[in-house]
Amino acid sequence: MKTIHVANTDLDVSEISLGCMRISRMDNRDIATLIHTALDEGVTFFDHADIYGGGQSEAKFAEAIGMNASLREKMHLQSKCGIRKGMFDFSKEHILEAVDGSLKRLQTDYLDVLLLHRPDALVEPEEVAEAFTILHDSGKVRYFGVSNQNPMQIELLSKFVKQKIVFNQLQFSITNTGMIDAGLNVNMEIDASIDRDGSILDYCRLKEITIQPWSPFQYGFFEGVFLDNDKFPELNQVINEMAAAKGVTNPAIAIAWILRHPAWMQPIVGTTNPQRLKDICKASDITLTRQEWYQIYLAAGNKLP
Ligand SMILES: NC(=O)c1ccc[n+]([C@@H]2O[C@H](COP(=O)([O-])OP(=O)(O)OC[C@H]3O[C@@H](n4cnc5c(N)ncnc54)[C@H](OP(=O)(O)O)[C@@H]3O)[C@@H](O)[C@H]2O)c1
Repeated sequence: MKTIHVANTDLDVSEISLGCMRISRMDNRDIATLIHTALDEGVTFFDHADIYGGGQSEAKFAEAIGMNASLREKMHLQSKCGIRKGMFDFSKEHILEAVDGSLKRLQTDYLDVLLLHRPDALVEPEEVAEAFTILHDSGKVRYFGVSNQNPMQIELLSKFVKQKIVFNQLQFSITNTGMIDAGLNVNMEIDASIDRDGSILDYCRLKEITIQPWSPFQYGFFEGVFLDNDKFPELNQVINEMAAAKGVTNPAIAIAWILRHPAWMQPIVGTTNPQRLKDICKASDITLTRQEWYQIYLAAGNKLP
């Protein structure tokens, strides 16, 4: 597994991360197998959120492996906060409480990274700044980031927050390419030209913010997996041919497609299946050519101007 350096930090992280959103319903033995498979494959970065499984994903993660100092040292733990039932909440009080809850459930005294999960319309950036400084100075959180935020939201936050925003977690996959489409179709009178995110991809590159693509195998908003799906015949044919030619399985190609982008993205994969995780990790050993990257983009139904 290759590592990437996260700009403006001392973090070198596995270029593929394991998302723990779906583990809460697994039994502890299966969770332990999944986590140890990840570590054996070199996947040392784990993505959590206080709300996953109502807190059970974090709690069972730590319980399943019998969290201890030596295991903790081998991993980077990231969690997120700010989503509550029926609202978003970036208040100082909630951020501080949420982190304490995550630390307790994860059985650790620090998070490597804390992300604000989804933009809060009522955000008061001065309060976020106070919370981040308390968390940073107390050693509870090493680095900070956001998720699902556009450039102006990050600019607003950055005016007040002392710590650098080093990650932005965004939905991105072969079938969710809004971040790329608009940049390819500038000023054209077609839907693909619509900039829905304020040019977040270029902004993140400019500001050295590492993008973490979430749900890299899903199409729509959790509508399903595009691989081996009859809705995407041409895409699957191209991916399967490439997989066969390179001696890997199709999930590896889907992740290699993301890793080929020069923004140094760190995809967060959500599989709960250890064998699938191993297959996915093969993505780190292959590099798609420019031609292959565009071939997949086009097979997903996109057009070039
Ligand atoms: N920031 C945000 O707003 C946000 C939103 C959503 C998710 N996330 C993060 O992103 C992580 C990944 O999200 P996700 O779980 O939706 O991502 P994903 O990796 O796109 O999807 C994984 C799911 O697809 C299934 N799957 C079926 N066939 C597959 C195949 N051929 N290849 C790969 N997966 C296949 C997996 O089943 P098996 O388990 O059987 O493999 C699993 O249920 C989450 O764990 C979470 O950490 C963040």
